[in-house]
Amino acid sequence: KKVVLAYSGGLDTSVIIPWLKENYKNCEVIAMCADLGQGDELETVREKAIKSGASKIYVEDLTKPFIEEYIWPTLKAGAVYEGKYLLGTSFARPIIAKALVEIAEKEGADAIAHGATGKGNDQVRFELTVKALAPHLKIIAPWRQWDIRSREDAIDYAEKHDIPVPVTKKRPYSMDRNIWHLSHEGADLESPWNAPQDDVYMVTTTPEKAPDQATYVEIEFAQGVPVAVDGQQLDSVALLTKLNQLGAANGIGIADIVENRLVGMKSRGVYENPGGSILYYAHRELEYLTLDRATLHYKEQVAIRYAELVYDGMWFSPLREALDAFVDATQQNVTGLVRLKLYKGNIVSAGSKSPYSLYHEGFVTFGEDEVYNQADAEGFINLFGLPLQVRALMQKEAKKS
Ligand code: ARG
Ligand code: SIN
Repeated sequence: KKVVLAYSGGLDTSVIIPWLKENYKNCEVIAMCADLGQGDELETVREKAIKSGASKIYVEDLTKPFIEEYIWPTLKAGAVYEGKYLLGTSFARPIIAKALVEIAEKEGADAIAHGATGKGNDQVRFELTVKALAPHLKIIAPWRQWDIRSREDAIDYAEKHDIPVPVTKKRPYSMDRNIWHLSHEGADLESPWNAPQDDVYMVTTTPEKAPDQATYVEIEFAQGVPVAVDGQQLDSVALLTKLNQLGAANGIGIADIVENRLVGMKSRGVYENPGGSILYYAHRELEYLTLDRATLHYKEQVAIRYAELVYDGMWFSPLREALDAFVDATQQNVTGLVRLKLYKGNIVSAGSKSPYSLYHEGFVTFGEDEVYNQADAEGFINLFGLPLQVRALMQKEAKKS
């Protein structure tokens, strides 16, 4: 028996290693740690995994594919879950699970394991991805089986099995971090009446502490994908890193939401999304300029469905592929430049332009024009309003009889 485990280096996933060996007849555990730009020290992760009893550890740098193959498509779709959440954990799970599957195949493993609890969304996302990519693999989710119930239980178990226990005092929040976002759940945030305390935030400054001077930033897009910041062409990782810095310094991108989990209950989360929030805003500015009304409005519907699908862990589904084809078709002309003002937690439009802009001053001007015949409007309104008129006439007749 060989198991590939999604490993983070934290206490929970470290404890899973001896637990697997104890409960699955001395199986071999291979750890896989995905680097999604979370900024952890990945060298100590290797050591921890081996000390905890893993036979081997893979540390996979997936930051670039994470951005280009998961974040950019979702940004182009404009997908936001329940109006606030930019899905930072949701699309991280399928890319991690895909890496688990690839390693399982290479190593001839029969199972994969993950450290998500039985109450959350993450278990669904990991497991749907495995089902979609490698249906023969068995899935082990220790949180649904063992009787570890608290951090204290986990520490006890670790000490009994000679697992190094982190000495640093742990933040009380359940956290997930990658280059796109940070999430914070649990502890005092479990009451929606509690405002997040300032020390929740790990990268973003509070608006109060942000500079009194506004920061201007210019973002260039090519077919819906950001390619340059302030005139400088940057690769995806450098571009997002730069916008994260600008956003964080200006208190941008904090979202506080009571969200509907797929598994039924509501949960309260506080998210930090400095660079992502800037990109969503800028991308939308360019769509205002370049998309016709019908496409823009239809795309708004698609965005809601796309967000649901990503949240639900259905990344590797035919619907996502089909929606991507639609979204890509809409992005042909989403090319141009957007200027934004960042100021104390706010993003303010400060100009946009595109060679494909549909905005036509000649038509819309309040001044004189030569292209629009105002008399045409009368006939248009007569036909457009005909059903309203017919209904009103009917209502009048019906009242009489
Ligand atoms: N509620 C968010 C989501 O479902 C964030 C989950 C965070 N996960 C974690 N393991 N801390 O996508
Ligand atoms: C977990 O339960 O493992 C984290 C939260 C979630 O998956 O929604």
